[in-house]
Amino acid sequence: MITETTAAKFRNLPTPFYFYDLDVLKSTCSTVREESEKAGFKVHYAVKANANPRLLNIIASYGFGADCVSFNEIERAISSGFSPSEVVFAGVGKSDRDIEAALKADIFCFNCESIAEIEVIDSIAGKLEKNATIALRINPYIEAHTHKYITTGVAESKFGISTWELKEVLERIKSLNNITLTGIHFHIGSQITKMSVFESLCSRANELQEWFSSQNTDLKIINLGGGLGIDYSDPETPAPFEKYFSLVRKLIKTRLGQQVHIEPGRAIVGQCGSLISKVLFIKKGSNTTFAVIDAGMTDLIRPALYQAHHQIENLTSKGKLSKYDVVGPVCESADTFARFIELPETRRGDIIAIRSAGAYGEAMASRYNLRDLPGVVFSDEI
Ligand code: LLP
Repeated sequence: MITETTAAKFRNLPTPFYFYDLDVLKSTCSTVREESEKAGFKVHYAVKANANPRLLNIIASYGFGADCVSFNEIERAISSGFSPSEVVFAGVGKSDRDIEAALKADIFCFNCESIAEIEVIDSIAGKLEKNATIALRINPYIEAHTHKYITTGVAESKFGISTWELKEVLERIKSLNNITLTGIHFHIGSQITKMSVFESLCSRANELQEWFSSQNTDLKIINLGGGLGIDYSDPETPAPFEKYFSLVRKLIKTRLGQQVHIEPGRAIVGQCGSLISKVLFIKKGSNTTFAVIDAGMTDLIRPALYQAHHQIENLTSKGKLSKYDVVGPVCESADTFARFIELPETRRGDIIAIRSAGAYGEAMASRYNLRDLPGVVFSDEI
């Protein structure tokens, strides 16, 4: 919760900025550590959700590995305290330069998405006289019931290897000298709130394991990716970790010596961050009243890109409730955080908090309109 005392301190700070409540982050990390230890799973935090070095440093201190999608992320993760031997490298389009740098950094595993990619990794590894450990990202054809832009495991998705191609992939791997296959990987989408989706994923993973056994291929790792959603209408509630871990633990059939990996991003950082902004102007429209704030889609693109809902609070008014459209200053009509929401009477200079913005907020900020990137304030600094 953002208290009145904290809100009073915000008044003197330049806006917009991301406010990170480190107590929330630490308590989330401890729950994840506790639940993952109980289940016996290895957690790799998905760095793309938030690569802020201070947050990474805290997350690394809980003993998690890192799931990265570029060498810049790998470098950031390692310099923030993650061990290279606990870094996995995902992505449908890894560049040769990134593959080479990752091999030189001795990361744990490449999650591969095509025969072409595996061949390139093999050839670069050969030149460097290295062996690359890989896992196969498989498209399991499971509908994630989330926004279509963050659905990644259906027939139309560019991600993962199709099941009909797996036999050929295994044959090709056998002919390559610098590749060791260690496991299989899935990631079917993000902001998944229906537990039944994870149930389907577990049964599909079990079926595929049978198939790999029939091909005399042992798998050491079953990586189920990320995707666990958070409650955007209640920023104080953590993601349902206990439910998720116990469900997967119950359903996934592991074999002797096998480990389950998961890659949560949003569920770890989502609820610890808020975007803090000041009201610039109140403006009457034909059908609504606009609260024009100094944060825009360049600071938090989720509402514009995915029609995402984030709870919006006026931290400095206790006035009578009234309806507003909360909009940013960017020259795009999509630069709208919410339409027709109830806020206490809002005036120029009021402080607005856009909650649950710790994941894919700061990480997706841009400089469109040549705007400054948002600032960052940590709860132990004010
Ligand atoms: N593993 C892989 C291979 C991924 O592609 C992702 C996210 C994750 C793990 C972490 O997923 P999470 O636990 O955070 O759901 N910008 C979008 C989300 C894009 C997610 C991309 N992949 C948003 O703001 O909703």
